[in-house]
Amino acid sequence: MKAKKFAKVGPKLPGPKGSEIVRKTSKYVSPSIARFYPLVVESAHGSLVRDVDGNQFIDFAAGIAVLSTGSTHPKVVDAIRRQSAKFIHFSYTDFYYENLVQLSERLVSLMPGNFSKMVYYGNSGAEAVEAAMKLSRNYTKRPIFLAHSGAFHGRTMGALSLTASKPIQRKGAFPLIPETVHFPYPYCYRCPWKQTFPECDYYCVDYFKEQYLEKFVPSDEVAAYFFEPIQGEGGYVVPPPDYFHRMEFLRKEGVLMVSDEIQTGVGRTGKFLGIEHFGITPDLVTIAKGIASGLPLSAMIAKAEVMESWKPGQHASTFGANPVAVEAALATLDVIKSERLMENARRLGSLALKRLNEMKEKYEIVGDVRGMGLFVGAEIVKDKRSKKRGEQEAHQIMDYCFKHGLLLITAGRNTLRVIPPLNISKEELSEGLDIMEEAIALTSSAAAKG
Ligand SMILES: Cc1ncc(COP(=O)(O)O)c(C=O)c1O
Repeated sequence: MKAKKFAKVGPKLPGPKGSEIVRKTSKYVSPSIARFYPLVVESAHGSLVRDVDGNQFIDFAAGIAVLSTGSTHPKVVDAIRRQSAKFIHFSYTDFYYENLVQLSERLVSLMPGNFSKMVYYGNSGAEAVEAAMKLSRNYTKRPIFLAHSGAFHGRTMGALSLTASKPIQRKGAFPLIPETVHFPYPYCYRCPWKQTFPECDYYCVDYFKEQYLEKFVPSDEVAAYFFEPIQGEGGYVVPPPDYFHRMEFLRKEGVLMVSDEIQTGVGRTGKFLGIEHFGITPDLVTIAKGIASGLPLSAMIAKAEVMESWKPGQHASTFGANPVAVEAALATLDVIKSERLMENARRLGSLALKRLNEMKEKYEIVGDVRGMGLFVGAEIVKDKRSKKRGEQEAHQIMDYCFKHGLLLITAGRNTLRVIPPLNISKEELSEGLDIMEEAIALTSSAAAKG
């Protein structure tokens, strides 16, 4: 075991203070929240987190891909302080303020596509998705939404209708929006048709045309196709390079293409949007998570022609575009640019992929490694041949990491995800990967012994 510089944990987790907070949380807070492990945060700076009992962890979770500039970046904290001292809230539903114009100009300029765009603001990812659903119906005057199985677009009733990653998320909530059609995501490691890329020649696209559009989905009644450029909660699934380009035929049918960038956006994949890796220009984009380094803010950016179909009063949110969150977003964009965080994501993302691919060669339980920038997943299996999902093994690895000072979480049922702050240092990342390797080696040899 290598000596640790950053990860410092005592023998018992959580410690006495943490245990008491966990106990009280279960008493007062909704049980619908499923936590990975009992981390009770006391403070966090950059990519290091301290708990209430004095343990220190390396952060590979970034508040679930939210802390793009790390925890408490001085420029973000300064922006929050500055704006809070001026005014904290005024509601953009009824009044104006200048930093909203600045942020909108910045966001619009960061979007691909040589056409005018406009921005709608909410507080959470789900709210941005709801807005995109409502807007696309309003513009097209069509009822149907297309989405993928394995997709995650949020948990409010509209967004939940698109979400199809775990049955528990929908349990007890039916009926949802009935005009929602799901079809398989191009998940090459587990191709539903047992095909191999590239020999398959994108059979998934042909299947969608033949079995959906030619059988039961009238394309001229489809408002929008919602997709994640890389599936997040579905298990960090990277589609083959030409997939979205081939799906663009939907545009000719008048269907809007909506790229849900809530997890992949704001530089996480090494480009501002995940879809930029796939060379298509969406009509609508949703972003949230990393945009304000932890303050609640989401945005739905659409072609101006589409957004202008809304009349005043058709959609709004009291807390949307909170001025403090807007100022934090402006600071976040400044930091991403001045500290070259997209470059860092690309550079350190390649390092993480390389290390994890080496682990894939060495350990039977690492089935697949995939990702872009600092959006990286390692799928854990029982063994490489059967590819049976190593759900229990993935949880054992995660648990070991927690107990040894690394905050690592899963995606889907059996994928470990590496999504640290975009400004994590090489040293911190390497130490975190060392802890991951220890955990994988132990779990792999335990699995081999049966
Ligand atoms: C791709 C995607 N869309 C939407 C959401 C929902 O965002 P929120 O939890 O902020 O509502 C998430 C959250 O993980 C997400 O990953």
